[in-house]
Amino acid sequence: MAKTKIFSCTACGAKHNKWSGRCDGCGEWNSIVEDTPLSAGPAKKTLGGKRGTSIPLSDLSTTEAPPPRTHSGMSELDRVLGGGLVASSAILVGGDPGIGKSTLLLQAAAKFANAGLKTFYISGEEAPAQVRMRARRLGLEKAPVQLAAETNLRDILTTLDNERPDLVIIDSIQTMWADNIESAPGSVSQVRSAAHELTSFAKRKGMSVILVGHVTKDGQIAGPRVVEHMVDTVLYFEGERGHQFRILRAVKNRFGPADEIGVFEMTGAGLAEVTNPSALFLSERGQPSPGSVVFSGIEGTRPVLVELQALVAPSPHSQPRRTVVGWDSGRLAMILAVLEARCGIPFTGLDVYLNVAGGMKISEPAADLAVAAALLSAREDAPLPADTVVFGEISLSGALRPVSQTENRLKEAQKLGFTAAITPKGGKAGAKSGLKLTQLGDLTAFTGDIFGAG
Ligand code: TYD
Ligand code: MG
Repeated sequence: MAKTKIFSCTACGAKHNKWSGRCDGCGEWNSIVEDTPLSAGPAKKTLGGKRGTSIPLSDLSTTEAPPPRTHSGMSELDRVLGGGLVASSAILVGGDPGIGKSTLLLQAAAKFANAGLKTFYISGEEAPAQVRMRARRLGLEKAPVQLAAETNLRDILTTLDNERPDLVIIDSIQTMWADNIESAPGSVSQVRSAAHELTSFAKRKGMSVILVGHVTKDGQIAGPRVVEHMVDTVLYFEGERGHQFRILRAVKNRFGPADEIGVFEMTGAGLAEVTNPSALFLSERGQPSPGSVVFSGIEGTRPVLVELQALVAPSPHSQPRRTVVGWDSGRLAMILAVLEARCGIPFTGLDVYLNVAGGMKISEPAADLAVAAALLSAREDAPLPADTVVFGEISLSGALRPVSQTENRLKEAQKLGFTAAITPKGGKAGAKSGLKLTQLGDLTAFTGDIFGAG
């Protein structure tokens, strides 16, 4: 039988029966590569006819205790995990190369080992001497972590079966190699198969596994998204290279809230926890300046204050630039359109730059009003009143909509010394805070009252 070719997307893992330049699944370009089918044999017979065994069913109610959790003692990490590491869980930690995944996980390994878990750290990228050197630099050389440098999956599984650790860290899944799969390490089928073998083995034997996955851009190496569906928890480690802040974000968690973040600072001695991120994100703020607005956001279960910065300048291009760092560019286009159509404030012929300070990424629509305020303030060259926070969602009609957790947002602002807030009308619990509130019904009121524009 002729071997049928199959193609997979290295970004999302979608299968295609022919090569194309762009994946229909995720829209990524140049990410489709030829792949080895997992089962190359003839199609299996259908299940019909032959009886299997009956599976046991149970009620939804349970008297079982919730799964045991181990706290690392790094509160930022424990919170992102949903309150500590759940026994027999599979976790994926993705992030750009060099962002600090190995550093974070070596620190976590040491903490979990000190908390009593038998912990293995298996590196497919660095020699044991290199890992040891890093451990010494981080002051962790005394921690009872067992180290190995290996990429052969069969040998790793055999070792795990003999040694039975409680936690094994695999750095990284892209370097692991299963000898029963023909394709090269890092290919979609190798990464998928290695992740499947490791996670199912860990579940069967009652150990937790943490997989490191590099986010890749070149398309030949499969990215962490390929294994997201196989694990219980998906964490991404983000940050800008030039900044020392790092954010560990839960994008999926079967054992806790998603969208929770942990904030770290990369120092000479490894990652330090940042327990008050608002203070950190605002620490570089100077005098109130045009285009700068403080947004009171919610990340997971926690309020976080961040500074939004906008720059609006006459454009030398026929098509003016719209550049966004840390926020959604589609959402920026929408706000510019609403400002133009509903408030009569055009941005034609103007370049617009929007930046979220500190390397933070925001996805909440609650930031709409703060973005609009930053844009207007930059365009009018007029700073917003000092010590004011802004939040609220903008609808296409230009109306302002109240957002969730108004009270928490205001409380955090007050805690950090802010004295006033601009919010949508109708938000709950506004009156209780000690802040001077300006509550507005729509964006026109905002542009008129605050800037006298429009
Ligand atoms: P690393 O953990 O190796 O990144 P990843 O595993 O995600 O590829 O981190 C690499 C960077 O972190 C490297 O550029 C050096 C920096 N770093 C520090 O700034 N301080 C430290 O204590 C350590 C260990 C690394
Ligand atoms: Mg690494």
